[in-house]
Amino acid sequence: MSILFIIMILQIVALNNAQNIQCSYKPPNKDEVMYKVSNPNPNQHKRSLKANNIRIKIHYDSTVSNLPEEKSNIVKAVFPLAVDYWQKTLMVRNSVPVLRLSPTCRAKEIVTKNGVRCCLFGCLKRSRCGEVYIPKDHLQRCKQTLLFSNNHCIPSGPNQGKGLSNTDFVLYVSSGQTDRCRDGNTFAYAAHCQLEDSMDRPIAGYINLCPDLLGSGTPSHVISVFLPTIKHEFLHALGFSVSLYAFYRDQDGRPLSPRLANGDPVYDNKMNLYKWSDKIIRPVIRNDWQVASGNISRVFNMMITPNVLREARSHFNCSTLKGVELENQGNYGTAMTHWEKRILENEAMTGTHTQDTVFSRITLALMEDTGWYLVNYSMAEDLAWGKNLGCDFIEKSCFSWIQHRLLSQSDPSPYCVRIKSHPLITECSADRKSMAVCNLVIYDNPLSLEYQEMVILKYRRCICSYKSGAS
Ligand SMILES: *[C@@H]1O[C@H](CO)[C@@H](O)[C@H](O)[C@H]1NC(C)=O
Ligand SMILES: *[C@@H]1O[C@H](CO)[C@@H](O)[C@H](O)[C@H]1NC(C)=O
Ligand SMILES: *[C@@H]1O[C@H](CO)[C@@H](O)[C@H](O)[C@H]1NC(C)=O
Ligand SMILES: [Zn+2]
Repeated sequence: MSILFIIMILQIVALNNAQNIQCSYKPPNKDEVMYKVSNPNPNQHKRSLKANNIRIKIHYDSTVSNLPEEKSNIVKAVFPLAVDYWQKTLMVRNSVPVLRLSPTCRAKEIVTKNGVRCCLFGCLKRSRCGEVYIPKDHLQRCKQTLLFSNNHCIPSGPNQGKGLSNTDFVLYVSSGQTDRCRDGNTFAYAAHCQLEDSMDRPIAGYINLCPDLLGSGTPSHVISVFLPTIKHEFLHALGFSVSLYAFYRDQDGRPLSPRLANGDPVYDNKMNLYKWSDKIIRPVIRNDWQVASGNISRVFNMMITPNVLREARSHFNCSTLKGVELENQGNYGTAMTHWEKRILENEAMTGTHTQDTVFSRITLALMEDTGWYLVNYSMAEDLAWGKNLGCDFIEKSCFSWIQHRLLSQSDPSPYCVRIKSHPLITECSADRKSMAVCNLVIYDNPLSLEYQEMVILKYRRCICSYKSGAS
């Protein structure tokens, strides 16, 4: 019979397969981030600052050194590879000679009339970035005020540290068995913790690696799964984050979202996020969204920044494309902080790691659209999923795609229609380079309407020769 009677879902949660890693991004709270961190920059008045490759420094927390040797060796082998990739791919303009981070205020931060940021009642003894205590050497001196006085902002506490030379971004790496690790699915999580003052570019972030899930793999697993996961988490700290969209700038460095008189974007207390403008993300309604039971109307959150739009239009060969869908499943942070899996399957910045992960030009374009980076597009990896399939593929439901393909007796690829059963039956993937299992599942309970349409291929790594199968 026809697939019309089958209820299908794109499985976004981990399958019964250890190789599916789900990212559960959680936006940091406002008070976990230091904004407008200022460092002396002798070059800031020069008109055309040359862009230089970003210089990333990694700082391992003691929890990494305390891991069993096998695990800490893997960590220390993989991070330099991820750093190398992003250093070759991203360039920044606003480098400072020495980077020092801001210590954490004991109470709140006050901005004086002269624009000096100052901590009421001084700073905490130890400042944190995510789970990690920042070494004192990396910190500026505390500036404190004791009264609600606009003028008395005085240095206090230990002198400034020697700082981080040749550094545009520092990542603090820890491996603590935290609450977020205890859900058993989370492999790692990351976010930014400090933004600089000239462009709001992240200058510090953290990543925590859940120790139980670390290092259970073979060397090839480490390279094919662990490395792309680390590179993925890096981007949440560097720019791809629901809590950074409001800080994006245009190519001339002007904020894209409205700012208050004090220069901050508007904070939305309900969402616990700074608000971004509709020049960045816009909801788009699609009325004729075909699902098993008929047509429904759906709203999609679309990334619509210029470089992303250019790259996506060219990738899908759809010149009228209005934007690139963001993930809609998962908690709010996870949802808005990844590309939609249905349209970008094995792209590295979707929320679930399947296989053959690639960092495509579309993701690099987003990094360029932050306004903080220039990108080296020759570092992009080739994405086969959806390539040149046109507007019908990216703008219509996959139910509609499959139905049209089957009615015209053509292959529904890149989707598939074989119901997943035991034993698993593999077939050639659309590009004929690997074997795939069709991940189409029949659900006993009714699904909400919009999910009655999704089918996806799950790649297995092996070579599928086109000829050997055909006889
Ligand atoms: C850009 O990437 C290419 C390919 O990896 C590399 O050869 C080139 O040196 C990179 N350019 C910069 C400025 O890093
Ligand atoms: C449902 O939407 C599709 C386009 O996605 C359209 O071709 C079809 O005519 C619509 N069907 C109905 C009953 O409106
Ligand atoms: C892109 O789409 C147009 C029609 O919309 C088609 O003529 C052209 O061949 C397509 N290009 C590629 C590379 O598939
Ligand atoms: Zn993620």
